Amino acid sequence: MHEIVLTSPSKEGIYKELIPQITSLIEDERNLIANMANIAAALHHSFDYYSWVGFYLYDEMRKDLIVGPFQGKIACTRIAIGKGVCGTSFQHRKTIIVPDVNKFPGHIFCDGDSKSEIVVPLIVNDSCIGVLDVDSYSLNSFDHTDQTYLEEIASMITKYFTL
Ligand code: SME
Repeated sequence: MHEIVLTSPSKEGIYKELIPQITSLIEDERNLIANMANIAAALHHSFDYYSWVGFYLYDEMRKDLIVGPFQGKIACTRIAIGKGVCGTSFQHRKTIIVPDVNKFPGHIFCDGDSKSEIVVPLIVNDSCIGVLDVDSYSLNSFDHTDQTYLEEIASMITKYFTL
């Protein structure tokens, strides 16, 4: 049985403790959905201000994003490419940090608890297969530290995935 154990008082310290534990959680498993589900749970339980953590995955048939494994309140099922923070991050293949969701034009309000947000694209070879979305109960929760470590976690997820 896996249990995430964290002792650091700092954000960077928590991520540093989390990375090897996430590695051991997913290194022997190649199923993308299973790994995303466990990573969403691991992240959600690591920071008490994370209101929602989860994945949106590209749906080849409908050419939009569909919600994947997540932890938090019920979310929007589909997001159009280019819409909201998730659709914009997917379209430009860039991490987007939103300090105040009320100030992001076109932000999609799935969950009224969300005050700030970071979205990281999931890149496999040259394709974007979806995004990792992390929302916070507080304003200004995310910075370069989150970007660095969440991008590392995103690359761990896609490492063993082939298109
Ligand atoms: N706020 C996101 C939508 C997803 S949820 O918050 C879970 C967006 O604007 O893309």
